[in-house]
Amino acid sequence: MENEKKIIYSAMQPSGVPSLGNYLGALRNWKNLQNEYNCVYGIANMHALTVRQDPAALRKRTRDLVALFMALGIDHEKNILYVQSDVSAHAELAWILNCFTYMGELSRMTQFKDKSAKHADNINAGLFTYPVLMAGDILLYRADLVPVGEDQRQHLEISRDIAERFNNIYGDVFKVPDAYIAKVGARITGLQEPTKKMSKSESDNDNNVIFILDDLNLIANKIKRAVTDSEAEVRYDSINKPGVSNLLNIYSTIIGKTPEDSAVEFEGMGYGDFKKRVAEAVVEEIRPIQEKFKQISADKAFVDKVMKDGAEKAAYIANKTLRKVKKKVGYPN
Ligand code: TYM
Repeated sequence: MENEKKIIYSAMQPSGVPSLGNYLGALRNWKNLQNEYNCVYGIANMHALTVRQDPAALRKRTRDLVALFMALGIDHEKNILYVQSDVSAHAELAWILNCFTYMGELSRMTQFKDKSAKHADNINAGLFTYPVLMAGDILLYRADLVPVGEDQRQHLEISRDIAERFNNIYGDVFKVPDAYIAKVGARITGLQEPTKKMSKSESDNDNNVIFILDDLNLIANKIKRAVTDSEAEVRYDSINKPGVSNLLNIYSTIIGKTPEDSAVEFEGMGYGDFKKRVAEAVVEEIRPIQEKFKQISADKAFVDKVMKDGAEKAAYIANKTLRKVKKKVGYPN
């Protein structure tokens, strides 16, 4: 990472198999950014602990996510792919940043409000300080840009606030990061509940979420069962036609057009045929990823090696930032 390219940082929780939302809103862009930037991509398994996890399942999903990143075409040599808990600087910086973050600003986070409503029996302090750990992730690598979906915008804003606050006291320690949110695909919604985001940790309604390792026939069927409306016109109007607009969003992100432009292709077409076209596009996009994933994840030694090398490369950069921070705040060593 000695060249002049800007730095990209992003991460994903291993809290379930990634959804089509994760793929279109984040992962697909991660791959496309790897030539132009120096990219660091993390598996945010420490964040995942904020809700109860089965340890064996969490371990497996963490390793599988490394394999999936590679299956998507993210090059493990060109970029840094690593697991958050393998780099202790994350925990160390999070504590320090906790002391520069206010309860008031954390309590305004919509994700905290949503998650504490959903997990009312386990509103732990980690859930509350989750954005601080996330700010630390980004700041450790001096990221310029953070490619995320729309739902993470607020967390990016608080990361910037924390960085600026720290810099105002101690001088220019952190790079203040910018969110990098794609124009299309940044908010994919549920197929059955098209006004809410599609989420990988959701399991209430199986037809609502496409998981990218779902059987391809199942993916097509989920799309065919997607909620639409009582009109018979394929038109982009996310307020009045959220179901159809979400399908248009999915389709357009894959083919690289705006949803308004791709709606033209479907003029005069019924919803059945429209859904068929969307399903075909999704299935053809996902098929090669699944094939590659099968191959890569079967080679456990290789995935372990990638994790180990990634952790070393990540720790080297992260520790440099952490050393500077420790000195600034007055740790003796
Ligand atoms: P996570 O694991 O929930 O989601 C990973 C990425 O997927 C995006 N995303 C979506 N995009 C479009 N439509 C959707 N329905 C959709 N659902 C999810 C998210 O915006 C995200 O980009 N806190 C983060 C993980 C994290 C992180 C970080 C991200 C930890 N540290 C540092 C960036 C930088 C999270 O829970 O993402």
